[in-house]
Amino acid sequence: MNKRVIASCLLLGLSLASCKHTIEDIYVLPDPNAPCKDQEVYFNRDIEPLLLSKCAMPGCHDNQTGSDGVRLSGYNNILNSDIIKKDDPLDSEIWEVLNESGDKRMPPEPNPPLTSAEKELIRTWLLQGAPNSACKQDCDTSQFSWSGTIQPLIKQKCEGCHNSASPQSGIILEQYTQVKALVDNGSLEGSITGNGFVVMPYQNPLPACEQQQMLNWIADGAPQN
Ligand code: HEC
Repeated sequence: MNKRVIASCLLLGLSLASCKHTIEDIYVLPDPNAPCKDQEVYFNRDIEPLLLSKCAMPGCHDNQTGSDGVRLSGYNNILNSDIIKKDDPLDSEIWEVLNESGDKRMPPEPNPPLTSAEKELIRTWLLQGAPNSACKQDCDTSQFSWSGTIQPLIKQKCEGCHNSASPQSGIILEQYTQVKALVDNGSLEGSITGNGFVVMPYQNPLPACEQQQMLNWIADGAPQN
């Protein structure tokens, strides 16, 4: 709050209570147009894709199902699901369920548990205060090699629902040959654009630049380069 705002509150004879800071004022969000820094954790780059791919599948915590009242697609839905304690972050339910055993663990069997690197992203984000933080990700449509771009993208954004333990619609996207088979039958392209297919990732299409990278790779013959 700047001095002018304080001065005008005083001038108007308002109590200073009405000018007090909220938590959002104090936590300064990163500039969404500033480039992402590798070692930082951001909601848009790290947390949102993870929750969408590993938790917000149909029948679980997508917005339609909202199993146990928990919806993990969209920042406001996440906050409204009552699973984050900003004043005691590591007592948050979203953190506890990742570390439970047996059928209390999320994601539940037969889904694989989150990896320790994925858990660490969530922990760091909670300790930051679970902000709706964003940064501008590098994305260059002229970059679309299998190993440099496409495979990591599929790993991050598709494998949570298309892994061998619990594949949605029976589709597994862990190996090059599995992806290539979908290139050949046209369903990969169709599901990325939504043209004639249900758009993928389910209910959350890729950003335009990432769609273009996939389409460029497909147009290039989908090489394993
Ligand atoms: C949140 C879960 C989820 C994520 C993430 C996800 N999918 Fe799917 N996928 C589904 C579901 C559910 C279906 C079945 C949709 C239907 O038929 O209604 C499906 C079906 C498909 C199909 C079959 C389309 C058809 O009709 O033959 C393809 C191909 C596909 N997904 C590719 C992808 C790709 C590529 C990504 C990542 C960019 C991805 N999916 C991410 C849940 C997901």
